[in-house]
Amino acid sequence: MCGIVGFTGPQQAAPVLLEGLKRLEYRGYDSAGIAVESGGKIRTEKCSGYLENLVKMTDGGKAIPGNCGIGHTRWATHGAPTVTNAHPHISNDGHFAVVHNGIIENYAQLREELTAKGFIFYSETDTEVVVHLLDMYYTGDLKRAVMKTVARLEGSYALGVLCDEKPGELIAVKNASPLILGVGAGENFFASDVTALIGHTRTVIYLEDGEFASLTPDKITVYDPAGREISKPLSQVMWNTEAAEKGGYEHFMLKEIMEQPRALKATIEPRVKNGEIVLEGFQFGSDQLKEINQIVITACGSAYHAGYVGRYIMEELCRIPTRAELASELRYSKPIIDERTLLIVISQSGETADTIAALKECKSLGARTLAIVNVVGSTVAKLADSVLYTWAGPEIAVATTKGYTTQIAVLELLAVYIARQLGRLEDKRYKQLVRGICALPERCQRAIDLNRRVEKLAGKHYKKTSLFYIGRNLDYAVAMEASLKLKEISYAHSEAYAAGELKHGTIALIDENQLVVALACYNALFDKLVSNVKEVKARGAQVLALARESQRRIFAEADQVLLVPETDELLMPIPEIVPLQLFAYYVAKAKGCDIDKPKNLAKSVTVE
Ligand code: G6P
Repeated sequence: MCGIVGFTGPQQAAPVLLEGLKRLEYRGYDSAGIAVESGGKIRTEKCSGYLENLVKMTDGGKAIPGNCGIGHTRWATHGAPTVTNAHPHISNDGHFAVVHNGIIENYAQLREELTAKGFIFYSETDTEVVVHLLDMYYTGDLKRAVMKTVARLEGSYALGVLCDEKPGELIAVKNASPLILGVGAGENFFASDVTALIGHTRTVIYLEDGEFASLTPDKITVYDPAGREISKPLSQVMWNTEAAEKGGYEHFMLKEIMEQPRALKATIEPRVKNGEIVLEGFQFGSDQLKEINQIVITACGSAYHAGYVGRYIMEELCRIPTRAELASELRYSKPIIDERTLLIVISQSGETADTIAALKECKSLGARTLAIVNVVGSTVAKLADSVLYTWAGPEIAVATTKGYTTQIAVLELLAVYIARQLGRLEDKRYKQLVRGICALPERCQRAIDLNRRVEKLAGKHYKKTSLFYIGRNLDYAVAMEASLKLKEISYAHSEAYAAGELKHGTIALIDENQLVVALACYNALFDKLVSNVKEVKARGAQVLALARESQRRIFAEADQVLLVPETDELLMPIPEIVPLQLFAYYVAKAKGCDIDKPKNLAKSVTVE
């Protein structure tokens, strides 16, 4: 939700800022802006729409000279995505510019107070109060003005501040929104995410909530909330620039789909040693695991869908009652959770507001907490008792693919590990599952190779305005994700339905205009699913089935078939989602949609 960047150094700032924003566009892309200080004067350029407009307006940044600046790419919360509402916001006297990611919850009171004092507001944003507060409190001491301003703010904010009286200096403030400092040689940076920094430096400082920093080309000084200088460790980012680029693919989404075998290898390989699952970072021994009487998995969006897959596998293998809950519901549901609950929180970004809130709520009730996260050093990773990273590399496309499959891989490793620790998996089955997990990168590659004709199939169906994805058990869990993939990038209405439930109402919608995607990989319920296929076919629907390579019977039932390579029943979801990711991608492409930047969405959702 909004990306911010800052740069100070010997180079021209604007091109560096624009390049950084390009990498943060996945966080929001409805308007953008930069402010650059030069010779004690701040100049701002803003635009509505994509960042590309700003790049053109400023001739790639050349039109705005200066060596120190801040930038913003927006996902609107308060006020429409207009030029006026775009950041940076400027103080009435033009001395300050501010970029902000997050929400200032008490902005209405502050706005009233500042208006009464004579400050003029131009935008509808919550952010504009920050720049006026700075102006009000500034008496020559920038650090003091920042502290006084921050003391008035409630909510979440990562802020970047530029002051024309402090040439070459940037202030960065973090509270409940991500912000990372990049340490360069004679140049320094801040950004919402490491992907905006890795083209320049891999040495970073992770700020904690409440901390703030002053950056000049040669120095970074970090302060605690009381304003005391503190020393912070330098961390090295393992991701490289290539990982955050399209590498010849037309879209990040396609690149990330194709990257899944490699990403899964990175997730799985280091965790299987001599045929045994080794989960460094998982700090519960078998005695503690024996005390667990329920597992609650919580997350949002696709991460929740991964959790839904995990729920079936966990319960089946560990024989512990397991449920998956949407974080936005769990946080307000007065959940029955105590120290005998293992809470598993899943998040690619580690910054999703609802997920963080659910984690905090369950922690306060005594749950033991484990996070499955991709972004190192993120809020979820810091808050949980234990962390298992997915190590999927940066994911840029808003619609997650490798993020989702690597989350499932971790859940599978975890389920098998816990079941083993509890003595609920005999040797033979344990070895079989471990071998199956180790083969997943190759199975995933085969799923890609088997489905080279998905584009053609998508060409047949891309005009459909309504689709149903049906399945049972794990197939149903995968259907939820497949349906979301399609709707978020192609804007077709689509619903995932437990196949056995169709007849209780929804079948009323089935007619010859519907495409029903039937997921038929879960062998134990194959025949039941076939009955549901017959029911929808009898009502005129076209059926596109998804089945195991060896399951030839499906050809007699469905109009078209997508094949999935064989693997263990419980490990099927990873290869199974691949053709459906490709289907969604090619449907969206045939419709001419902006696949990496679907309308109204953002990758990292840091608001409620
Ligand atoms: C957004 C993204 C989804 C993602 C969800 C949860 O809605 O568009 O792709 O699944 O947030 O994000 P997280 O970072 O917590 O996995």
